[in-house]
Amino acid sequence: MKNKLEQIKKQALNDLESLMSRKTSLNLQENLRTLRIKYLGRKGELSQILRQLKDLSVEEKKEFGALANSIKTELESIFKDKEDIVLGEKKGTYDISLPGREMKIGHLHPLTLIQRDLEDIFKSLGFSILEGPELESDYYNFEALNIDKHHPARDMQDTFYVDWDKNNKEEKLVMRTHTSPVQVRAMQKHGAPLKVIVPGRVFRNEAMDASHEHTFYQLEGLMIDKDISITNMIALMKELLKGIFEKEVPVRIRPGFFPFVEPGIELDISCQICDGKGCNVCKQSGWLELFPAGMVHPNVLKAGGIDSQKYSGFAFGLGLTRLVMMKYRINDIRLFNSGDLRFLEQF
Ligand code: FA5
Repeated sequence: MKNKLEQIKKQALNDLESLMSRKTSLNLQENLRTLRIKYLGRKGELSQILRQLKDLSVEEKKEFGALANSIKTELESIFKDKEDIVLGEKKGTYDISLPGREMKIGHLHPLTLIQRDLEDIFKSLGFSILEGPELESDYYNFEALNIDKHHPARDMQDTFYVDWDKNNKEEKLVMRTHTSPVQVRAMQKHGAPLKVIVPGRVFRNEAMDASHEHTFYQLEGLMIDKDISITNMIALMKELLKGIFEKEVPVRIRPGFFPFVEPGIELDISCQICDGKGCNVCKQSGWLELFPAGMVHPNVLKAGGIDSQKYSGFAFGLGLTRLVMMKYRINDIRLFNSGDLRFLEQF
């Protein structure tokens, strides 16, 4: 009899388990009721066993009676539990008749959105997209770009230097201060002619304000070929701004100094936050420094293994984070890395 009781319990639990794990909830309540009657009803399996107790000896009645009653109580409570779940009455469980909750799907960061738009524009113009290391050697970040060890131009980019002792060989590394090091890497790897862009993150030890971050994005561009001139460069820059802003945006071009270009220019954009009237983003000037560029210096071509007698080229270093600020009229650059959902959910 003991075995029979244990078997009924096991069978009841198995039946319950398979009923509750069914994918569909159709008729679940009804099926649960049928199962309860099968095991615990007046004519159910357990009741039949209990009825047989009267034919047993006093000793046996005591032993099996207690066991049968404890199994019955246990099954009663398990059935009640499941019924409460199905009716959604048990706290912490679910109401299977409720419609499902909508899953929240993430979305792209505004920087990624504009970076992808730019990549599409450049790809349509025949440019390839390259990447470079964020932890860069002093050589590629500065020296190969015509900025030797004690050049004052190093002060223009307040740099995070990183000590690195690789196999006891001292090698100076920096968190790259701009995407320009990839210029020389690209020339060395692919040679001329060359048409590439390099979007990426750069780092500077900046005093932060509404338009200066310590970690921001640039997009480097490099085009090397025969007979390339500064007019090609300016035409491309204007085309690009038109593609992003979908309208003509006032720009001004002025001379700019970078040791790795000659001549160098700075393209400023009319501040889109104050419409050129002056605000704290453009430091009340109405203009924002966005897009420096120039003709690649012969020393840089040489470092990249390219013959400057045969080839010339231009390069630019678009301030991508600032471009995004201008496109969406974001008035504080610190919002980009803040992780504030109230900001991010607007895109
Ligand atoms: C450079 O980084 C040069 N490598 C650009 C270059 C490339 C010139 C190729 C010529 C040829 P600059 O330090 O000005 O230049 O930075 C380029 C752009 O990055 C700036 O115009 C600005 O838009 C953006 N920028 C610079 N510093 C910050 C900063 N702290 N926070 C956000 N954007 C910045």
